[in-house]
Amino acid sequence: ELGSYKHFMEKEIFEQRKAIENAIRGRLSDDQSTAVLNGLNITANELRSIDRILLCACGTAWHACLVAEYLIERYARIPVEVEYASEFRYRNPPLDKNTLVFVISQSGETIDTLEALRESKRKGFKTLAITNVVGSTIARESDGGLYQYSGKEIGVASTKAFTSQIIIMLLVALYLGRMRDLSFADGKEIVSAIKALPDLIDETLKQADVVRKIAKKYSKFPDFLFLGRLEEYPIALEGALKLKEISYIHAEGYPAAEMKHGPIALVCPECPAVIFANQGEIFQKVISNAKEIGARKGPVILITDSPDEIESGLADDVIAIPKAHDAVRTIIDTIPIQLLAYYIAVERGCDVDKPRNLAKSVTVE
Ligand code: M6R
Repeated sequence: ELGSYKHFMEKEIFEQRKAIENAIRGRLSDDQSTAVLNGLNITANELRSIDRILLCACGTAWHACLVAEYLIERYARIPVEVEYASEFRYRNPPLDKNTLVFVISQSGETIDTLEALRESKRKGFKTLAITNVVGSTIARESDGGLYQYSGKEIGVASTKAFTSQIIIMLLVALYLGRMRDLSFADGKEIVSAIKALPDLIDETLKQADVVRKIAKKYSKFPDFLFLGRLEEYPIALEGALKLKEISYIHAEGYPAAEMKHGPIALVCPECPAVIFANQGEIFQKVISNAKEIGARKGPVILITDSPDEIESGLADDVIAIPKAHDAVRTIIDTIPIQLLAYYIAVERGCDVDKPRNLAKSVTVE
């Protein structure tokens, strides 16, 4: 089953084009510049009356919820809250009656996510799910939802399921947005960005050799920081989680500007920072954050869509990624951090597909 790959994680990283194609197949309408989402089991009227959205999940799926928060708030202008499923089930937060609950779970069997779903159903909320495993408990018990169709994910570290969850939440944001104030032209731009994504994924994967060399250089370092702003902050969290899980290196993800409020104390020659610096309104701000790290002798690894605009001496290493529309950029950002964690773990001789102490799905509390 592995073919020419050494591990399932590697294979699954390289399967992301296919996984994204599967997730969007038949779910885009050019005529209406929107998404076609069969399976939600919820009427247009019900959807229009939603005032809030609550997203619940664990681990990597929780990071997908954080990205979704940005996407839904930006394109559909509906306030979103994100909760760890394990907290939600005991926290008993007050919920507005027009709240739509979404849970995300690759396996569809994570106990905390399942219990969060049951708790919100018990309270009378419409509860939808995004799952990958067809017929899983969460898929069966939710009121409706969307399958990811990512194909089986065997590696314990989630990769292709994560990027598929993001694209599906973008489809949801587009759909809800087009029912509200998102214009036909803006919807059309997002539809085109989604269609362009598979080729951009291929282009990004071509950086694998560059990332492998960087991984070799840093594989013995004891600590890493991952920094990003706006929706790249959750990708920084995901980068840190991937590295921790499979290579057992301590890593932290932070919004880049938050660094000055504490984590900058960690910066030293043994603590590299992986920073997302892509074109957009905050490009120069992130560059200043990178300079602050360099000034304290922290190695800087930049993931950027504008390598020509990076002044020499600013970064120790650069991973160039293609320019992508804001709506889909987090998916492109994710690929280098997955590859980095993977190659570092391989370099350290770790059991990549079955990291210590972890299970693919956490079915007991
Ligand atoms: O199957 P689920 O998506 O519900 O799993 C949630 C988490 O357990 C999972 O994402 C975990 O964090 C992975 N090991 C991440 O790589």
